[in-house]
Amino acid sequence: MIRICADLEALSHAAAELFADEARKAVQARGRFLVALAGGSTPRRTYELLAREPFRALVPWQKTHVFWGDERCVPADDPRNNALVARRMLLGQVPVPCEQVHPMICDSSPREAVVEYEALLRGFFAAGCPRFDLVLLGLGENGHTASLFPGTSVLEERQRWVADVYLAEEGEHRLTLTAVAINQAALVVFLVSGHGKAPILRKVLQESQDPRSIPARLIKPVDGGLLWLVDQGAAGLLPPSGHR
Ligand code: 6PG
Repeated sequence: MIRICADLEALSHAAAELFADEARKAVQARGRFLVALAGGSTPRRTYELLAREPFRALVPWQKTHVFWGDERCVPADDPRNNALVARRMLLGQVPVPCEQVHPMICDSSPREAVVEYEALLRGFFAAGCPRFDLVLLGLGENGHTASLFPGTSVLEERQRWVADVYLAEEGEHRLTLTAVAINQAALVVFLVSGHGKAPILRKVLQESQDPRSIPARLIKPVDGGLLWLVDQGAAGLLPPSGHR
């Protein structure tokens, strides 16, 4: 499913509305809302909107548990830290209990951080299936999503829910949910904005390339929804009807 919005502002409003709807539905059905946030810049306006009325009052924050799809292994006060961005733009401004915010803490040993986050998730999802109610994802121009990057061994992971990735170019370790974990979600929503993403979005949606070269193609929820929330810039190379 693809939904084309006029621009990033419209995309962000649609994402905030969807977030609030999914939160209310999850709490009504199961008494809690489990969401994994995306890093990067695209979701920032969505986070800002969720921190303000009318969306702030629409989300049952007291019953919301916040996780991340990935994290850069940098100090918690480093501006690249996804959890720091989300705290500044959203979580520090809404009444989500701090014990319900679960950042990936990997500024020391990525390997230990993987074990810790995997254990956290396995404790949360005791039934053995990490069924987030909502996973937000971005799309990199090279086809990565979360920290599932082309050519990395994490793309082959079939058991673990969390893995560490080393990006040699950036000299940076990252933690990421694996495709196995993401694909257990009830709903996965990609947020994609800007002309710069048009070529990769067409490749992801239109071409049948090997997912190892376009990891976003690994994201196929087993028993859940997949929505591409994109703006006209990103959709510029798609046929008028979106994607088939
Ligand atoms: C991260 C994200 C990453 C991001 C894409 C798109 O930590 O950077 O998880 O997967 O979503 O790189 O980033 P933009 O939204 O900034 O284009």
